[in-house]
Amino acid sequence: MTYEEARAKLCAAGQEHVFRYYDELSAEQRRALIKQVGETDLSVLKRIHGGAGDERGVFSPLAAMQRSEIKARERELHEAGVRTIKAGKTAALLLAGGMGTRLGSDDPKGMYDIGLTRPVYIFERIIGNLLDVVRETDTWIRLFIMTSEKNHDKTVAFLKEKNYFGYKEDRIVFFRQDMAPACDFGGKLYMEAKDRISTSPNGNAGWYSSMCRAGLDKILTGEGIEWIDVFAVDNVLQRICDPCFVGATVLADVSVGAKVVRKAAPDEKVGVMCLEDGRPSIVEYYELSDEMMNAKDANGDPAYNYGVILNYLFRVSELAGIADERMPLHVVKKKIPYIDGNGDYIKPSEPNGFKFEQLVLDMIHQLSSCLPYEVIREKEFAPIKNPTGIDSVESARELLKKNGVEL
Ligand code: UTP
Repeated sequence: MTYEEARAKLCAAGQEHVFRYYDELSAEQRRALIKQVGETDLSVLKRIHGGAGDERGVFSPLAAMQRSEIKARERELHEAGVRTIKAGKTAALLLAGGMGTRLGSDDPKGMYDIGLTRPVYIFERIIGNLLDVVRETDTWIRLFIMTSEKNHDKTVAFLKEKNYFGYKEDRIVFFRQDMAPACDFGGKLYMEAKDRISTSPNGNAGWYSSMCRAGLDKILTGEGIEWIDVFAVDNVLQRICDPCFVGATVLADVSVGAKVVRKAAPDEKVGVMCLEDGRPSIVEYYELSDEMMNAKDANGDPAYNYGVILNYLFRVSELAGIADERMPLHVVKKKIPYIDGNGDYIKPSEPNGFKFEQLVLDMIHQLSSCLPYEVIREKEFAPIKNPTGIDSVESARELLKKNGVEL
């Protein structure tokens, strides 16, 4: 893209201020900024006022595989899972591209030390959980780690320094997710430096397209990987690629398995598994009508009762059919660092603008079938979003201790 083309693109979108410092920049900085303008999708900025893609369909309940059934069929599910893992058909994918702004650390979230009497890093817990399955099945499961350009170098350096917490280096592949621009509440792009538009990771649904752009789909086909367990960095209790979950999903012959927990209360703030226009989907807590909240299934239990915990086992052959452009774009209020009119770098303490994200939960609705698989909340759900309070370092520590983890 030439300077003139970049300027025309910015003018058409009302974003000429991006070139405010252009005259002060070196030739190299100018080239970099023009390149970034060329690569940035400015059409997302129109979405701050809402738009097509936000409408929802008709919801109906989707039954989960409950603990009672899992227990009764434990042996069968476990054997099927171990077989699949041992055949090298299962991979794990750690979503670690987020900014973790709520936690408030400048480091990648996985580097956070939750220990009390000794260091216990979030990455260490996650990798330790996967290592349990590696030992149990005697199989080094391929582990993909998604970072973003904001945290890639630190993540890679940290894990290398810690010797991957015991994981085999040649079974790990890192890749960076794509970025999206960030703007103020009026839709004006923020600048993070005089030669750079503010960007943030484009949401955790970016994993598959970013993986393909990095050429890693070749590993999936080359190694015959048929299932990929995609999970968040911040749930320090979750089991990853655990044989019963893998076995249940494979035997159910669905497009995706989703770990779910029974809701703690009808109005709990958690996305709930359901069908939407007959396809699997997740209804957000604020979209649940009173009627849905009180609806009962054939056994008299609440019909919309299972919340997702961001741990999904995707069937690889169905991923190519998921089109980014059909997925909703979420406009999220966040704290966005920027340079002000004086060229000073500002780190806001309150949300000051919008980021644009596509979410992994919306991938589910693009698939034809899903098995919600119940896990016990106290044993598998300890997300760390905040330093204190709900879903925090404090609450996760309590749950880890209850599960016998020394901190
Ligand atoms: P969160 O929704 O908690 O977002 O991510 P976040 O950016 O990490 O944290 P906050 O909201 O700024 O505090 C859930 C999971 O998805 C990953 C995160 O790393 C976490 O594992 N994620 C999120 C990505 O990999 N990329 C993204 O663009 C966003």
